[in-house]
Amino acid sequence: MTAAPALSVRNLTTTFDLGASRVAAVRDVSFDVMPGEVLGLVGESGSGKSVTLRSLTRLLPSGAEVSGQVIWQGRNLVGLAPKDLRKVRGGEISMIFQEPATALNPVLPIRVQIEENLRAHTTLDRAGRRRRSQELLDLVGIPDAARRLDEYPHQFSGGMRQRAMIAIALASAPRLLLADEPTTALDVTIQDQILNLILDLRDELGMSVVLVTHDLGVIAQTCDRMAVMYAGRIVEEGGVSPVLGHPAHAYTLGLLGSVPQAGTERTVLRSIEGTPPALSAIPPGCAFAPRCVFATDICRTRAPELVGTTEGHAAACHHSAMVRHQLGVSA
Ligand SMILES: Nc1ncnc2c1ncn2[C@@H]1O[C@H](COP(=O)(O)OP(=O)(O)O)[C@@H](O)[C@H]1O
Ligand code: SF4
Ligand SMILES: [Mg+2]
Repeated sequence: MTAAPALSVRNLTTTFDLGASRVAAVRDVSFDVMPGEVLGLVGESGSGKSVTLRSLTRLLPSGAEVSGQVIWQGRNLVGLAPKDLRKVRGGEISMIFQEPATALNPVLPIRVQIEENLRAHTTLDRAGRRRRSQELLDLVGIPDAARRLDEYPHQFSGGMRQRAMIAIALASAPRLLLADEPTTALDVTIQDQILNLILDLRDELGMSVVLVTHDLGVIAQTCDRMAVMYAGRIVEEGGVSPVLGHPAHAYTLGLLGSVPQAGTERTVLRSIEGTPPALSAIPPGCAFAPRCVFATDICRTRAPELVGTTEGHAAACHHSAMVRHQLGVSA
């Protein structure tokens, strides 16, 4: 028996007003996140990962328009009134960002910031909130929590600030954590600690997680399933092992650093040549075609649809059979 998804996103499209025109940063994105599952969203800078994440709870600048469906607890968040959305945001659904400095208030001690969240989203009384604040700092691995609660963000190191931000995000015991490059700014040891912490909390609280990253190592280490984004679309999705082991989209293959040269030899490259298209000039057909070594005429004229290659694994590529062949996988 398959459980129902915790979060179900269908045909999510987000456009921005550029004055004379509108551009779409997220185009027709659909995915599910199961209870307790960690879904990774990966892609180069500008591929639409952050806008996708922010569109889920409409944490976007004015002028942005979101359409499609974001089904959470039986409600479509896309149509939800701002006041109801505010209750969901930071309550059932929490977000953590790449840069803790933007999420922490520099003039308030950490304790006050955690307790504000507890007051807004729980029924705990004053004593309960004090107790829970300390538990949360312990939970995120900040030593000497009782003392550090009364310190200000600038008294924390980068890694500890990130932990404090996670503690604030977790104060409401969210059912869904949306984490946007939560460890990118940190050194590798701290990155590992924080990713492991998110996994521990997933186990402990049973929460689902959508984790945005541009690092495939982070995906491999942390996620159950992954979706690869390019020019605002999901181009490949599936379990982490199948997608990383047997990529079916030329872009994913490129991200993995395996680009075919003459014949079927593989050469490891550090990055894909060329740059992603500007939102105002997305090529017709497959948006990746100008950079793709597999591209043929059909790629330049017809947009490929996301279709299943194997169970739970799908790619939007006209030549996925050829791509799979590159890694010695028969199509
Ligand atoms: N407020 C905005 N107005 C116009 N374009 C935006 C805005 N925010 C993001 N974009 C554009 O949307 C695209 C996707 O951005 P983003 O989701 O931040 O990428 P990623 O997180 O994958 O690096 C980029 O081309 C970016 O320039
Ligand atoms: S559809 Fe064509 S251009 Fe796009 S990734 Fe696949 S092979 Fe390359
Ligand atoms: Mg981003």
